[in-house]
Amino acid sequence: MDAPASTAASTPFSTLIRTASHEQHTEAENSTFMSDMLGGRLGVDAYRRYTEQLWFVYRALESTAESLADDPVAGPFLRPELARTAELERDLTHLGGPDWRSGLTPLPATAQYAARIEECAREWPAGYVAHHYTRYLGDLSGGQIIRGTAEKTWGFARKGDGVRFYVFEAIGNPAAFKREYRELLDALPVDDLEKQRVVDECKRAFALNTAVFQDLGREFPLSA
Ligand code: HEM
Repeated sequence: MDAPASTAASTPFSTLIRTASHEQHTEAENSTFMSDMLGGRLGVDAYRRYTEQLWFVYRALESTAESLADDPVAGPFLRPELARTAELERDLTHLGGPDWRSGLTPLPATAQYAARIEECAREWPAGYVAHHYTRYLGDLSGGQIIRGTAEKTWGFARKGDGVRFYVFEAIGNPAAFKREYRELLDALPVDDLEKQRVVDECKRAFALNTAVFQDLGREFPLSA
């Protein structure tokens, strides 16, 4: 049953968006590919392919950021200490050598995901915020679990090449950073209808991530 309007209206937006995407978070977390990869059942080639997909996603998020810098809705979220493209490129050089980029193409679901981010960046800054939240707040949270597992499973140096994507050198206190990020969400300067659309876009962002995992799962099935 939906919460009464008065409750929904008084619930901080950061709580609303987290609660609304909770179920899909569990789904993404428990996807076959993620479980197999983090369960140590897949080789480092799967981790590399996954990291390549992230590069397309973060390029979409970060190459469009400059055009949103002065936007009143999306602008406040654009913090340079979050930027991941350079870290992903270092990880990919480590994983694939200096030519990692030659011939690299996104999986179909990744191409769709990146295209949707770019579309939001161009046409709908509040929708871009939904994508920004879904990735960066996740990286600052569960990303840390993924890093630990990747280091253990494939022998990367702690916080070193291969897992730099998960290391936010410029964020000294992730808990405080997340608190401030949630305050920005709570102060999002849009009306309730638009907030609901942002929640829906967040759900779409989770679905796009799950679709990438499905594509990856098809490429890396566990041999029976
Ligand atoms: C194996 C994979 C994953 C693990 C182990 C994981 C784990 C976690 C954990 C432990 C938290 C902290 C929850 C809290 O503070 O209450 C979290 C938060 C979050 N995760 Fe994940 N996660 C995974 C995958 C994902 C994926 C694929 C996405 C979406 C792209 C995602 C997006 C988020 C977001 C947006 C948050 C922040 C929620 C909030 O505080 O508002 N996670 N995750």
